[in-house]
Amino acid sequence: MTIGEALALATRRLAAAGIEAARLDARLLLASVAGMSASAVLLEPERALAPETEAAFNGFVDRRCRCEPVSRIVGRREFWSLDFAITLATLDPRPDSEALVEAALAQFAPEPPRRVLDLGSGTGCLLLAVLSERPSWTGIGIDIAEDAVAVGRANARTLDLAGRAHFQNGDWGQGLSGPFDLILSNPPYIPSREIPGLAPEVSAYDPRRALDGGEDGLDAYRALAPAIARLLAPKGFAVIELGKGLAEEIARLMCATGLTEIDRRRDLAGVERCLVLGKSDG
Ligand SMILES: C[S@@+](CC[C@H](N)C(=O)[O-])C[C@H]1O[C@@H](n2cnc3c(N)ncnc32)[C@H](O)[C@@H]1O
Repeated sequence: MTIGEALALATRRLAAAGIEAARLDARLLLASVAGMSASAVLLEPERALAPETEAAFNGFVDRRCRCEPVSRIVGRREFWSLDFAITLATLDPRPDSEALVEAALAQFAPEPPRRVLDLGSGTGCLLLAVLSERPSWTGIGIDIAEDAVAVGRANARTLDLAGRAHFQNGDWGQGLSGPFDLILSNPPYIPSREIPGLAPEVSAYDPRRALDGGEDGLDAYRALAPAIARLLAPKGFAVIELGKGLAEEIARLMCATGLTEIDRRRDLAGVERCLVLGKSDG
C-alpha cells in the first residue's frame, strides 16, 4: 500500500468512528510510525509503505478509533515549543497551562537566580518550561505518582535541564523546606461527578489522580493553600491553575492562609485560568 492509500483508508476509518480531525490525525499517526515529518507524509503519496509500517499504522488507527488521543498513541506532546514524553502516569499537558508559564516569567527579571517549586509536576512541563527560559534558575518538581516523577526526570534529561531540575515523590509540600521564590501548581480540579461526562480522550486516558478534585473540585487547593503559604519566600510568587468556574472560591481559600491575590489571567479561550499570589507580609 502507498502512503496516499494508507492515509485515505485511515481517514475514512477514523471519520466513521466519529473522530473529528480524522485527516489530520491519520497524518500525524502515519508520520510517527514511519519516522517522517507530518509535512513529508503529504509530499510522498506514491511511496510504498513497508508491511511492518503498515501493520503498526493500522494498530495506531485502531487505538485512535477507540478515542485514545494522538499524543498518547505517539507518546509525545509539545508544550511551550518543547517536546515532552507522556505516559499513562502523566496528564497530557494542555496548551491552556502555558498561561502559567507566561505569568511566572512576567513576575521576575531573569536575574538573580531563583528557586522554583512545581507541586504536582506530572511530565514536568511547567517547571521545565520556566527553567528553559531562565538559565540560572533551579527547581524541584513533586508528584505523588512515582511513575510520573520518573517521566519528569526523563524529560529533564532530554531537554538538557537535569542539572537544574530535580524531581521527587511527595504529597504536595509535605517534608519540604522553603523558601521558594516561585511556586507553580496545576492541581487536579475536576469535581468527581463530572469526570464520567468528560470527553473519552480525557476521562479514559488521563490518570484519575491528575483530574479528580473531589466533590467540589477544591480538595487539592485546600491542601495546597497552607503548604504554599509556608514555603513561599517573602517576596516570592505562586502561580496556580484555576479550575473552570472555581476562581472565586480558590482565591478565597488561598487568601485565608495569608497569601494575597496579585493577578488573575485568562487563557486563549478567555477562561480565568491562572492566579498569581504573593505574601501579605512580603
Ligand atoms: C493536573 S495534573 C498536572 C500535571 C502537570 N503539572 C501539567 O500541568 O501537565 C496534577 C498532578 O498532580 C499530581 N498529584 C495529585 N495529588 C497529588 C498530591 N497529593 N501530591 C503531589 N502531587 C499530586 C498528579 O499525579 C498529577 O501529576
